[in-house]
Amino acid sequence: MEISKLALENLGRFRAQEIALAPTTSVPSNVTVLIGNNGAGKTSILKSLATSLSWFVARLRSDKGAGSPIPEEVILNGAASAAVHVAILDHGVFFQWTLARSRPGKKAEHSSSLHDTARLADKYRTSLTADEHASLPLIAFYPVERVVLDIPLKIKEKHSFLQLDGYDNSLNQGVDFRRFFEWFREREDSENEAAVPDEVLEQLQKVIAHTRNEAIWKELQKINASAKDRQLTAVRTAIEMFMPGFSNLKVRRRPRLHMSIDKDGETLNVLQLSQGEKSLMALVGDIARRLAMMNPTLENPLHGDGIVLIDEVDMHLHPQWARTIIARLTSTFPNCQFVLTTHSPLVISDCKDVLVYALDNGELTPVPSQYGQDANTVLLDVMHTDIRNATINTRINDLRDLIEDGRLDAAQALLNELQAELPAQNLELAKARLLLRKEELRRAKNN
Ligand SMILES: Nc1ncnc2c1ncn2[C@@H]1O[C@H](COP(=O)(O)OP(=O)(O)OP(=O)(O)O)[C@@H](O)[C@H]1O
Ligand SMILES: [Mg+2]
Repeated sequence: MEISKLALENLGRFRAQEIALAPTTSVPSNVTVLIGNNGAGKTSILKSLATSLSWFVARLRSDKGAGSPIPEEVILNGAASAAVHVAILDHGVFFQWTLARSRPGKKAEHSSSLHDTARLADKYRTSLTADEHASLPLIAFYPVERVVLDIPLKIKEKHSFLQLDGYDNSLNQGVDFRRFFEWFREREDSENEAAVPDEVLEQLQKVIAHTRNEAIWKELQKINASAKDRQLTAVRTAIEMFMPGFSNLKVRRRPRLHMSIDKDGETLNVLQLSQGEKSLMALVGDIARRLAMMNPTLENPLHGDGIVLIDEVDMHLHPQWARTIIARLTSTFPNCQFVLTTHSPLVISDCKDVLVYALDNGELTPVPSQYGQDANTVLLDVMHTDIRNATINTRINDLRDLIEDGRLDAAQALLNELQAELPAQNLELAKARLLLRKEELRRAKNN
């Protein structure tokens, strides 16, 4: 399932805006990235998508289910009503719906038409009725407020997790770590019940080593591996793929109930992780958990289908992680469509086939591929940002002008000033030194 097109009318800062999302005929990947300065309208686009998709999720739960309304404050100032139109492609079939909202007491220019949400939901409900383990599409929105790791110290009652519960809070708060924890614990309990306990395996290993019967030992290990919970394995695998050096996510009961993870061989409480590590683990763990819940019979639940919206995808990430985030998302979750926003030049310069749009004052422009461009070029060309401090930039330009005009004493004085202020290895100053030396030699030769 994928969103092929979105159109906004009188919404946020957009009067009328159409956006085609990847994959398109020219960009075959599943990734669309929105860039643009603060207030450009990136979050408004993601929120509109989430609001619109909430109607499909609600109708999947029940016939007459109602999703979230468009909040009144996002109706364009001065307009009487706003509308979000989406076109969804699901296994070759198109579905389109319109969600509208008008101001109280105003004559609306738009009206909702949600028939197709029911048609699409009905399709999935029919397949769920025929097979209660049929796969459902993941639909999730991760807003910037997504990183709260709310780990309950006590779990009062055990939940039973239904497949449809994979949609719980998926469009309003993103990561639901409390549920993640409860779900993980529940599945781990049943995994532990099903598996041959480690102590028993150890004892058996000793006996078998003595009798040298390798075949029996292998058979036992096979039994143990098949008892591993496929859904938990999916979550653990996703985290390991995303975060090299991290493994073995577990719920521990001592000294008190907590979740632990091994980092480079050391076992840590997840609360001890850094903000960036927590945020990535929570995001990836949440996507993987929801996919696992929605695809109970898929051999690899991470290959489930879905739509994932992430605001400020590089939030808290070191440049090294920001650079590879899209590649990691698409290799870990190959069948999900991603719509992302970012302020980082690194995010969009590391992947070949991403559809990038620049937003400026409510205007949307497709950006040519930035694959392989250095961060400074992306900053200058696409994000229209100086690559260094503006005052220093002006003084370096002045220095170049002085050298070119042959005012070498003044150039030397300015160079000395800049050398005293900037790091010794500054490339622009090294170039200026060479240029100045060349000019001095040329002048000496001519005299
Ligand atoms: N009802 C409205 N009418 C007119 N303009 C609006 C309305 N609501 C929001 N805006 C405009 O939209 C902007 C908010 O857009 P949005 O939150 O999508 O920006 P953004 O691109 O996500 O920015 P940031 O990078 O800071 O998160 C506001 O700055 C405001 O100018
Ligand atoms: Mg925003």
